[in-house]
Amino acid sequence: MKVIVTENFNESCKLVAERIATIVKEKPTAKLGLATGGTCEDIYKNLIDIYKKENLDFSKVHTVNLDEYIGLDPENELSYRYYMNNHLFNHINIDKANTYVAGGIGDVDKIVEEFRSKVSENGAPDFQLLGIGVSGHIGFNEAGDKLHSLAHLEDLQKSTIKANSRYFEDESMVPRKAITMGVGEICSAKEIYLVATGESKKNAIEGLIMNPYVTTQNPSTILKLHTNAVVVIDKALADLVGYKY
Ligand code: GLP
Repeated sequence: MKVIVTENFNESCKLVAERIATIVKEKPTAKLGLATGGTCEDIYKNLIDIYKKENLDFSKVHTVNLDEYIGLDPENELSYRYYMNNHLFNHINIDKANTYVAGGIGDVDKIVEEFRSKVSENGAPDFQLLGIGVSGHIGFNEAGDKLHSLAHLEDLQKSTIKANSRYFEDESMVPRKAITMGVGEICSAKEIYLVATGESKKNAIEGLIMNPYVTTQNPSTILKLHTNAVVVIDKALADLVGYKY
C-alpha cells in the first residue's frame, strides 16, 4: 500500500481524476468500481472537466458501484443511483446500461446475487475508487468482529447513520441498512485509490497508515494486503495523524 500526500484536497481530487482518465485512455473498455459520498463529488467534477477538455471516451466503459441504501428507489435524490447520475453519468458519454448500482428496493437476496455477478462479470474491476467512513468503513463494510468477502446486506452503525444524516432531513430518515460490495470483491480490483480528507477521518486514517496491522475493527486496513492500493490524503490530514512525508 502506498500513501500519497498532496498539498490540499483539491490536489487530491485532481490527482485521482487524472488517474481514472489515464486508465480510460489506456483501456477504453475499462471496468471501474465507483464510490459515493462527499469526498467523491469533487473527484467527479474534475473527471468531467477532463472529459470535456480532452474528449475522453466513456462509451465502452463499464462501472459497478460500491453500495446502495436499502429502501431508497433510484429516483430518490438521496439514493446512490441518483447521486451517480447527478454527479457523473449525466455529464459524460457513458451508456447508462453499462453502469450498475445495486437496487435499494425489492428482493434483497436476488439483488445480492445480481450484485455479486456484476462485480465478477467480464473479470475483476481495473480500478476501484474508495472514500472512507469515520470508523474506517469502505463501501458500507462496517467495523465489527468479521468482514464479508462478498456483496451482502449490512446494518449501518450509529456513527455512519450520524455522519450520513447531513444529507437527510434528520437522523431518523437515514436508512438503517445498506447493500454493499464485500471486502474481498473490493480487493479484487487491480488498482485501488482511497481518498480521505478532514478531521473526522483522523482515527480511520491513523489505523490505516500509521501501523502495520490489519483489523476488522477498521475495515479499510484490508487494503494493506493489496499490492496496488494507494491512499491519497492532504497535508492537513497527514499532519493530524503524524504521518511524515
Ligand atoms: C458512505 C459511503 C462510503 C463513503 C463514506 C464516506 O458511508 N458508503 O462509500 O466512503 O460515506 O463519505 P464522505 O466522503 O461523505 O465522508
